[in-house]
Amino acid sequence: MQLTLTRPDDWHVHLRDGDVLARALPHTAARFRRAVVMPNLRPPVATAEALRAYRARILAALPPGADFEPLMTLYLTDRTTPDEVAAAAAAGAFAAKLYPAGATTHSDAGVTDLRRLDPVLEALAEHGLALLVHGEVTDPDVDVFDREAVFVERELAPLVERHPRLRVVLEHVTTAEGVAFVREAPPRVAATVTAHHLLMNRNALFAGGLRPHHYCLPVLKRERHRRALLEAVAEGHPRFLLGTDSAPHPARAKESACGCAGIYTAHAALELYAEAFEEAGALDRLEAFAAFHGPDFHGLPRNTGTVTLVREPWTVPEAYGEGPERVVPLRAGATVRWRLAGGSGM
Ligand code: NCD
Ligand code: ZN
Repeated sequence: MQLTLTRPDDWHVHLRDGDVLARALPHTAARFRRAVVMPNLRPPVATAEALRAYRARILAALPPGADFEPLMTLYLTDRTTPDEVAAAAAAGAFAAKLYPAGATTHSDAGVTDLRRLDPVLEALAEHGLALLVHGEVTDPDVDVFDREAVFVERELAPLVERHPRLRVVLEHVTTAEGVAFVREAPPRVAATVTAHHLLMNRNALFAGGLRPHHYCLPVLKRERHRRALLEAVAEGHPRFLLGTDSAPHPARAKESACGCAGIYTAHAALELYAEAFEEAGALDRLEAFAAFHGPDFHGLPRNTGTVTLVREPWTVPEAYGEGPERVVPLRAGATVRWRLAGGSGM
């Protein structure tokens, strides 16, 4: 069996920098025409100038002949000003990323008090930039599995109301509560959905022992939450967008007494989504999810050209790279049921 789709986009990816960028970017660019690049480098991409420089490094790292467009994001901090937003817009930024301080990997420079950010959010709306939200509270009293649901109720719903012109994306939605919020929200609110949250529940963290390569944030949830995500994408709801959250880390940082959060999926991103849609009996919905919902929501043109997937299992390498810096991908040493066969207009 074979599936040919309009070239898709990834609305949330971590490409990193330097050697990791050089390794990860070809995986992303082989599958996606555009990708929204997360700004959580060290130091973060928090100025228009840093954003321009990072885009230039990404373009320089592209394989020759690749037709790929990075959509750049500005990292919001407590010190971001409306002027910086205007400068980022002039530099061609696509969106701004809100990390509650301490919520996830490289988020220590994030925002501590959301309400103080209102003038900056107004500036985003004015310049037509979307707000991409890591939707978890950081309150240590809140159970880690409840942090998204509490954030949606406590922070996100009021924020969406306070800013009636702002386009808002709840990034990597993981809960039934997050899904319900998007379903009920106005059409300017969407969510991205990862392949790993569609394919795994929290049992995967403990299958036969502790599995650091299944640890990400927001953390995997119960089966009923996975079902809610699958239902939303399988019914073809237009405000659920493909966002891999592919997040490479060196094996030494994950296979550790205090392993960091992030799952690398760029090597098989579209193929893994095809598995999830197949499980849901919704392969006919994959193209719109991957290639139409995102540009339609963000007011961008849909892509031309195609990619083709073949239902032909292949074995994922144990790692990309060597030694302690190697990146261990999802399904390392195991099979993925769909294979990327190529495309046109790439
Ligand atoms: C991401 C990373 O490693 O940068 N990690 C993750 O678990 N998803 C950060 C993020 O998107 O939260
Ligand atoms: Zn992410």
